Parts: sequence; C-alpha cells; structure tokens
Amino acid sequence: MTLSRRTLLKGLGAGALIGVAGCKARIDARTDPLILNAASAEAPLLGEIEAGTPVWAYNGSVPGPTLRAPRGGQIAARLENGLEQPTSIHWHGVRLANAMDGVVGMTQDAVEPGAGFDYRFMCPDAGTYWYHSHNRSWEQVARGLYGVLIVEDEEPAPVDREITLTLDDWRLDAGGAIHESFGALHDWAHGGRMGDWITVNGGPPGDIALRAGERVRLRVLNVATARIFAIAVEGHAAQVASIDGFAVAPFAPEESVLIGPGQRVDFVLDATGEPGARYGLMDDAYDDAQPISFFAYSDEPPLRDQFDDGVPRLGERRAPGTLDLSEPLAGDLVMEGGAMGGMAQAMLGGEMKGMRELARAGRVWALNGVAGDLDKPLLSAKRGRTVVVNMVNDSAWPHVMHLHGHHFTVLTIDGAPAHGAGEIWRDGHLMMPRSRATIAFQATNPGKWYFHCHMLGHQAGGMRTWIEVA
Ligand code: C2O
Ligand code: CU
Repeated sequence: MTLSRRTLLKGLGAGALIGVAGCKARIDARTDPLILNAASAEAPLLGEIEAGTPVWAYNGSVPGPTLRAPRGGQIAARLENGLEQPTSIHWHGVRLANAMDGVVGMTQDAVEPGAGFDYRFMCPDAGTYWYHSHNRSWEQVARGLYGVLIVEDEEPAPVDREITLTLDDWRLDAGGAIHESFGALHDWAHGGRMGDWITVNGGPPGDIALRAGERVRLRVLNVATARIFAIAVEGHAAQVASIDGFAVAPFAPEESVLIGPGQRVDFVLDATGEPGARYGLMDDAYDDAQPISFFAYSDEPPLRDQFDDGVPRLGERRAPGTLDLSEPLAGDLVMEGGAMGGMAQAMLGGEMKGMRELARAGRVWALNGVAGDLDKPLLSAKRGRTVVVNMVNDSAWPHVMHLHGHHFTVLTIDGAPAHGAGEIWRDGHLMMPRSRATIAFQATNPGKWYFHCHMLGHQAGGMRTWIEVA
C-alpha cells in the first residue's frame, strides 16, 4: 500500500479541541486614521462567558482590526509598540515596496517598546491577505498579533455576502492561559508548536448564520504558526475560488482543502441546505473529520430556489508577471533537518557544525546546508528575470514555503505538472514530507525578499533564506 500525501499528515499532529466568534472591529483604510497598537490584552478565546485569556493583540482584539482597502489603494498604518519586546508588522502576501515589508533585520530595524513605525504602501491586487508580527513571530503571532487585510475589487464579487473565518490554534495550560512553552526545540524539530485549542475568529465553536439559497464568499485564513487545516463544508459542494488572494477559475475540490500556515483559500459556498439545519465546517488534517464550527441555517425561506449559472469567478486577476522559462535563473532549495531527518551537519555562522552544536544554537533545520544564516541570498535576480526554484523537502515533516513581495506559480509536484501551473499564483506552497516542487515567478519587485517556512518555529530554527531582486 502506498501512502497518499494526505495520509502522511495523519498522526503528525496533536488531537484538538475545538473552539467561533462574531464580528471584530473593522477599519476602513480609506477613511479612518489607522493606528495599530500592539499590546497585552484579554481575548475571549474560551468564549464570552469564560474569563478572557491574556494575549498580545493589535488594538485589544484577536484577530486585530480587519483592514480594507480598494485595489490600487493605499494602506497607511502606524504601528505603536506597547509590548515589552521589539516588534514589526509584515503585510503577508501583498506585493509592496520592500521598505514596508516589515522584516526585522532585513528591511527595517525592530520597533522598540514605546516606539512606533509608519507603514504606507499600495495594494496592487484584490484578495484576502493578512498582517502579523515579523519579529520573534513564533511567539508574537502565536500570542495573537495578527489581523485580516482585505483588498477589494472595483467590481463587487458575484455573491450575496461574505464571511471571513480566521483559523488558529492555541496551546493552553490547565488554567486556560497560553502555555509558556515558546522556543521549545522539541516542537521546532517536529511539526512546530501545535496547540490543542482551535479558534475561529478568536473564539470557541459557534454557529455561523446562513440563509438557504444564498451564495456566500468564505474567506478562510490559516494564521496558526504550525497547524495545517484541511477544510470542507459538510453536505455542501463549496468551490475553491481564490488561493492566497489570487482569484482562480472556481473548481470543486475532490477532498478537503489543505490550508497550511499563512495560506488563504476563498470558497464560494452555495447554501443548498435546508432551512433550520446545521452543517459542520469540518477539518480532517491530522485526524478524522471533526467540526471546528457550524453553519446554522435560519428558518427563513430560501433566498433563491436554485443556482443556475455555475459558480462565478471572484473577479479577474492578471498574472503578477510573465514567465520566460527558456532561460530562467534557476536554483535548488534543499530542505533538511528536524526529527527523523538524518541531518548530520550544517553551516552556522560560516562554519560547519554538528547536530549537537546546531541544536545548542536553536538551529535544527537547514536550507541548502545552511542553518539560518542570512549573509548571502539564495538567488540574486535582475529585475524582470524569470526565477525557478527546485524545492526538495528532504525531511519527515511538511513545510509551507512563503515568498515575500512576489507571487509564484507551482510548475511541478514530484515531477508531474501541478494543477494550475502557470495559472494559479500564490505566496505560499505546502510541501508534504519527502516531496519535491518546482516553482517559478518573475522577479518584478526590487529588494530583499525573505523566503521561509511559515511554520514559524521552523523558520526560527533555520528554514529561512532570501532572494534579491536588483
Ligand atoms: Cu507571513 Cu515572512 O511571513
Ligand atoms: Cu517548516
């Protein structure tokens, strides 16, 4: 029997409890002066009737305020650091100016406690994005420093309504507080710091109201620092219509849709269920399918009797570049390390080190034999050049490779043409253990672009590099 890629995930994660909350604060970046204050807060992770859980949050809520901007519009936000450690904000997936990318040590200095930083950038593409801390992100994001960023098309999407579902997991102690197990090498060398309490929009399991006969856009974001979700809507044929913000020709997935840390998938959900019925939002990434919240139909009569026109596209989107695959700038990216990976040594600080020494330095992963040193870029491309990266996951764990400042297309997976090659553009690719993938993009955006695993403990543990566009 051969294991499917999907079953390779089963058993890798901890079983999870489930934990859905209503609307959070919403800010329209067109009209409101926007201040994002990063500070301690209490969030109803366990539900409104339980005591709040101490978290770190933007403007006191988890997720932070949902930001909206029109396509081609500008976001101007001031980060104020009310934390006791330095921080920054990265605008995940937005093809923005390099100086606004928020990568501490690469595109900006850390924002010290009490200090601030003004971010101002243009949003070239409509879609579902998010923002999060990019300093000690393995701790800061896990404590709640993230929010949703929605860039709206000029043309409204052909749906009745949209619902945003921000999926996260939390490792809580017996008292319901965030477990202080940050930076544990054991987690980093395995699947990352997985939590066992799942929240949707910062709260425990709950009902998401739906009316029969309505067509809904579901924006699903995985903001967890390690956990993969595999999502399906019980009893419905939800179609995938956007990946990492990029509108695609809608298609009905054959099985639940894998969403790795940092990734976004927008579904078009036609409410074909019965008034009064409930259907689970199911997750079966590591275990048998379980609901992580419920779609609860009202008793109202159906909004329409049938959906006749097929699922429409959520807007047109131009490719973020043109590929010239005849003579690309090509490079390999071999990912190794972690538990059961067999890595014996890697470069650290310019010297070859054995595993024991690497572990002592908190580096348990390597890319091309380098455990997290950032002195040289993986590749240095002239602006306009097509870049191809042959990625090999030579480890026993899944990884999500995320590229800043660009969207890439996956050309092949394990040597076979990938679904949507040259048509689907994304900023993160989830790679199964012992698998390969070739990605390509046009280096259109000048700067130093961080390229790393979005399992944030893996990133801190060495799975990081960068690509230079000159
Ligand atoms: Cu969402 Cu480099 O990060
Ligand atoms: Cu990883």
